[in-house]
Amino acid sequence: MTSMRKIHYFDGFSNESDDTIFHLENDFGAHHYERIHVVVRHAKGCWLTDDKGNKYLDCLAAYSAANPGHHHPTITNAVMDALIGNYASVLSNVVFTDPLGIFLSEAAKFAPQMAPRFGNHGNKVLPKNGGVESVETAIKAMRYYGFKQKGIPDGKQEIIVFNNNFHGRTISVVSFSSKKKNYEGFGPLTPGFVSVEFGNIEAVKNAITPNTCGILVEPFQGEGGMLIPPKGFLAGLRQLCDDHDMLLMADEIQVGMGRTGKKFCFEHENIVPDGVILGKALSGGLIPLSVFITNTKLMDMVFSKGSDGSTFGGYPLACVAGTASLKVFEEEKLAEQAAKKGKILKQRIQEIGARSPHVKEVRGEGLFIGIEVKNGNAMEFCRKLLKLGLVVNDSHGHTIRISPPLVINEQEMDFMVDRLEKALID
Ligand SMILES: Cc1ncc(COP(=O)(O)O)c(C=O)c1O
Repeated sequence: MTSMRKIHYFDGFSNESDDTIFHLENDFGAHHYERIHVVVRHAKGCWLTDDKGNKYLDCLAAYSAANPGHHHPTITNAVMDALIGNYASVLSNVVFTDPLGIFLSEAAKFAPQMAPRFGNHGNKVLPKNGGVESVETAIKAMRYYGFKQKGIPDGKQEIIVFNNNFHGRTISVVSFSSKKKNYEGFGPLTPGFVSVEFGNIEAVKNAITPNTCGILVEPFQGEGGMLIPPKGFLAGLRQLCDDHDMLLMADEIQVGMGRTGKKFCFEHENIVPDGVILGKALSGGLIPLSVFITNTKLMDMVFSKGSDGSTFGGYPLACVAGTASLKVFEEEKLAEQAAKKGKILKQRIQEIGARSPHVKEVRGEGLFIGIEVKNGNAMEFCRKLLKLGLVVNDSHGHTIRISPPLVINEQEMDFMVDRLEKALID
């Protein structure tokens, strides 16, 4: 008989030493992440705390999952209520639950009318768990539309994607990654994707064939180096999709829900896609939850009873967190907060960039800010910043990613700017 390890929790802190935690992960976990050497014991608002009480300002916010700040009281209380009230657990998908119905209606109304060219029918929502599952849902929708509506032979559908994209880790999704590490040795890969240069509308035009059924785009690329495409690119994609009867799907898992200073990133070019994918911040970083939202007409055309499903997708606890998170988003005007603070923060970081011998460019919108370094090694600076009390990481090797919770306050921004100054100038 194996004996169970005794773990005592006091106010959320375990009594295991940092060294033990490092060894447990090392010995029993897959080594699929490069971690920085910190064990976080406590996360609240914008701050992460270790065993010794050292505090780190979270400038990463779990790649936007913690947009409303860690353990936001409204979301945490909603989750606690559901647990205490016994309406949180996963139920068979043969029964209805009120958290699901409520969440679906809130999420459908959260987005503008998707795919307006198909009529003003309202939106429908298909819930899943991790973000990549909803990316897969969007891929299914584009392919089915191509097959059913455009008459493309099944199996011949093509989707245009972009170089240096990041949409997750399933086999189909890594099949169109530009990064060898993401797909090498995992074949056979899924066919049907054509990858072109991000921001190059001519390259997109040239990639369209009679079998193209859609375009999958991150309106701004997070993992690709915190990249904002040239003005007119998203509008150009919209036009091409209209002209060639293709579906435009926006992956807003990282850049949606206020991150870039707008509710949806596609609003920067006043376009409306045919479908939008949300995840991460959708449940305030507490419970995995993602959605694919599209026009009712499209959703009903693509998905019928038995053609999709998920045990935990849309289960009560996740829906409770999702509904609370949407409420927090609106009540606390998170997009407006990001726009206002991001403008100030970017300007202050640009001032540092202008004086720093290491900075090549500072770019961004809202609280989605990248600092590209000249030597191409952003991690070198991220490690320095950790010692100074900031948790940051790189994007695409060459760029320091600054994406704190959207509720960051003035003093916290001062703290961040002071540390950036030290790491990039001193
Ligand atoms: C733009 C984008 N799409 C998809 C994903 C995948 O989401 P998940 O890791 O929840 O599957 C991510 C995760 O970082 C992302 O940033």
